[in-house]
Amino acid sequence: MDKLPFVLRYSLLVLVILSCAEILVAIDSLNASRSISHNETLISAQGQFQLGFFKTGSSPRSYLGIWYNVDPNQIVWVANRDSPLNDTSGVLTIQNDGNLVLLADGRRAVWSTNVQNAESGTVSAQLLDTGNLVLKEINEGTVLWQSFDHPAHAMIAGMKLGWDLRISLDRNLTSWKNTDDPAKGEYTYGIRLHGLAQVVIWKGSSIHYRSGPWNGVHFGGIGIRYDLPFITEPVVNLEEVYYTYQMNNKSSSVVSTLTTNGELQLFLGDNTSEDWRLLFKVPTDQCGTYAYCGPNAICFISGPQTCSCMTGYQPNSPQQWDIGVWSGGCVQKRQLNCSERQDFKEIEGVKMPDFVQYQVNLNMSLEECKATCLKNCSCTAYANANASGQPHGCLLWFGDLIDVRPLNIYADQKLALRVSASDLVSESGPNKKKKKIIILVTIAASVCLLSAVLFFTWRRKVENKGGKLGSDETEKENLELPLFNMVTITEATQCFSNANKIGEGGFGPVYKGKLQTGQEIAVKRLAESSFQGLNEFKNEVLLIAKLQHRNLVRLLGCCIHAEERMLIYEYMPNGSLDSFIFGGSNHTKRLLVWRRRYSIIIGISRGLLYLHRDSRLRIIHRDLKASNVLLDCEMNPKISDFGMARTFGEDQLITKTLRVVGTYGYMAPEYVIDGIFSMKSDIFSLGVLILEVVSGKRNSQFHHPDHDFNLLGHAWQLWLEGRAPELIDPSMEDTFPMSQVLRCIQVGLLCVQLRPEDRPDMSCVLQMLGSESSELPQPKRPGFFTERYFKETDSLLAGRWTPDESTRTTIEGR
Ligand SMILES: *[C@@H]1O[C@H](CO)[C@@H](O)[C@H](O)[C@H]1NC(C)=O
Ligand SMILES: *[C@@H]1O[C@H](CO)[C@@H](O)[C@H](O)[C@H]1NC(C)=O
Ligand SMILES: *[C@@H]1O[C@H](CO)[C@@H](O)[C@H](O)[C@H]1NC(C)=O
Ligand SMILES: *[C@@H]1O[C@H](CO)[C@@H](O)[C@H](O)[C@H]1NC(C)=O
Repeated sequence: MDKLPFVLRYSLLVLVILSCAEILVAIDSLNASRSISHNETLISAQGQFQLGFFKTGSSPRSYLGIWYNVDPNQIVWVANRDSPLNDTSGVLTIQNDGNLVLLADGRRAVWSTNVQNAESGTVSAQLLDTGNLVLKEINEGTVLWQSFDHPAHAMIAGMKLGWDLRISLDRNLTSWKNTDDPAKGEYTYGIRLHGLAQVVIWKGSSIHYRSGPWNGVHFGGIGIRYDLPFITEPVVNLEEVYYTYQMNNKSSSVVSTLTTNGELQLFLGDNTSEDWRLLFKVPTDQCGTYAYCGPNAICFISGPQTCSCMTGYQPNSPQQWDIGVWSGGCVQKRQLNCSERQDFKEIEGVKMPDFVQYQVNLNMSLEECKATCLKNCSCTAYANANASGQPHGCLLWFGDLIDVRPLNIYADQKLALRVSASDLVSESGPNKKKKKIIILVTIAASVCLLSAVLFFTWRRKVENKGGKLGSDETEKENLELPLFNMVTITEATQCFSNANKIGEGGFGPVYKGKLQTGQEIAVKRLAESSFQGLNEFKNEVLLIAKLQHRNLVRLLGCCIHAEERMLIYEYMPNGSLDSFIFGGSNHTKRLLVWRRRYSIIIGISRGLLYLHRDSRLRIIHRDLKASNVLLDCEMNPKISDFGMARTFGEDQLITKTLRVVGTYGYMAPEYVIDGIFSMKSDIFSLGVLILEVVSGKRNSQFHHPDHDFNLLGHAWQLWLEGRAPELIDPSMEDTFPMSQVLRCIQVGLLCVQLRPEDRPDMSCVLQMLGSESSELPQPKRPGFFTERYFKETDSLLAGRWTPDESTRTTIEGR
């Protein structure tokens, strides 16, 4: 008993020495006599990573975790995610049994490495410069436990994701419960071994996303790419099934994080600042969502319609299919009659169907595989299992084919779909036109202009033998679509006279016209970039014509004449918003009193909400800007050009100009740099627009004598310094409620935040704009807030877009 105070005193002494030592030199290890408590940390030898206690949000709960030294918010590992400490009593220590343990109140273990047969005297725990916390035997150096084998929500370079089959270790990521709570959430990211291994995101126990199976070279859709700052190394053998990645150089880091909404997001950081930019994410789009189109269909991210039935199949419920509810998928047109002659149709470049009813035989040749499938009447498709070398191995599917989409990566793997010979005959008959389909692809390194992911849309002719992916459903004539004839339009526009030309947009010139009925129209003459088939064009126009909202310009119909395609819109007498807010004359500016500006902001937001959420197409505009907002005679704002990028923009992207659809000054960073577009990139453009409406200044041509910031940077700086009212357009002479204007500025800044996930969605934007009482979040740093930064990017991207807005401005429908 006498001994105890001595031990206590001794360890106190050690602690004191330690805390002094910490000031001099940061420690990276613990041993039997060295622990850390809540206000101490371990720092890895080169200073990359830190291990310590952290809190989230306003909650008093604290956790033990590892984070990047330069950015304490970039947490890469959490030990006690499901058993937080409620106070600051936590101590991380090595116990007598050799385990690393997190103690609350100095004795209760809330977390432990749980290693058997280790002894405290002989073990130490070290935080390595890779971010791996390792518990090892001092003498032999044997690793007893490492945090890399017990990932939390994030993966960093050097970590293996997947299986060590020898010890049944399954390393997977689990999302946080919410952004303030590291407890295990509902999504898991890991490798599923069922069938052939594939990378999967689960939501609970159901699949949310899958990569496609391992094919001897890569995991289905996750190819080995050379255009990224890291290199992925997959390993699949009898002992291990995993992938890992290494950075190409030490000056940057990539963190893959499984977010609370089930996306794996890859962020690139430069190791010197808190800036992380999104490289890409999976699922990349709605076709990445597991079985989005239901069974026996193929999901296209672009093109006439999202889901198409495979050859020989038809929509399970045509009514549902018609209104864009795809999940019912497709069924066989008629039961395969096995006495009838059967054949196979090869579909190239698609994600192999999931393994529901299947057989895998890695030793079979492709010929044997085909013969086996033919012999069994319930076999619906086969493919080679191994794309390495000569295609070989055999995958057989029986019954439904689930989750098929075109892939961005080329592999020697073709899905051979069983069809009746009669289906093939009817397809290659004399009336058969060559179908054109649009496939969204991620172009790999060699084609890419930039070391980032870039999504292109790719038009591919499918030859008769290559498989008909276009669906019969698109061939329906539609009577609801008003077709204007060429004579009417020529007359209305006085032979497309220059006097009637009111604009030149990214998609072609726009003319004003007057029908014989007296109705005024705007005619957009599409540049020849529309390579779509006639039916696809009509279908798409019909879909867009069905989008009706008081804040969208109405599409009245179209005109098709030989190779010419034209869109007929209602005419907007007041022209576009930009001529009012940036217009030279004080008279036009004075028209824009605050009340009007506010209702314009609200109107645009409502239109965008409709496009994003309420219309059944869920359109991302991609080119929202002041010149694309038209004003009717009552100065109500109407968004124009919606659906254009979806419909007519993609071809241009690759075949004509290699330009990102969009306009300098309005494009979100993730779109410009990575080609990633989402609703959040529209939100960014909306934010720019809101700040422009409030300030009366153009983001892209903003100059300030004191700094290099553009309008966003200027607004943000004023905001930080509490001088936001200085942003307000001085030509606004009326009186206005300052709180409402400031609220708009704050919402604008929230919309242009650097990280897409920080930006609010449309319904939230409207709610924030409208509510006078509620507290808004503080905006974080905007994306692209300095001109200089933008210009650097510009030269990097030379050729990707035209920095001069005038050449891309789309003025239409006046
Ligand atoms: C830890 O924080 C407490 C206050 O919370 C302080 O009294 C103590 O000295 C700190 N210990 C060290 C080692 O910094
Ligand atoms: C993830 O890994 C844990 C621990 O290895 C395992 O218990 C769990 O089943 C895995 N989850 C999935 C969905 O594979
Ligand atoms: C695929 O084939 C290659 C050689 O052609 C072989 O080395 C590899 O083990 C095969 N992979 C699988 C999963 O069968
Ligand atoms: C066809 O294959 C299925 C699935 O393997 C099997 O259950 C069935 O017995 C086979 N039918 C014939 C006729 O071989």
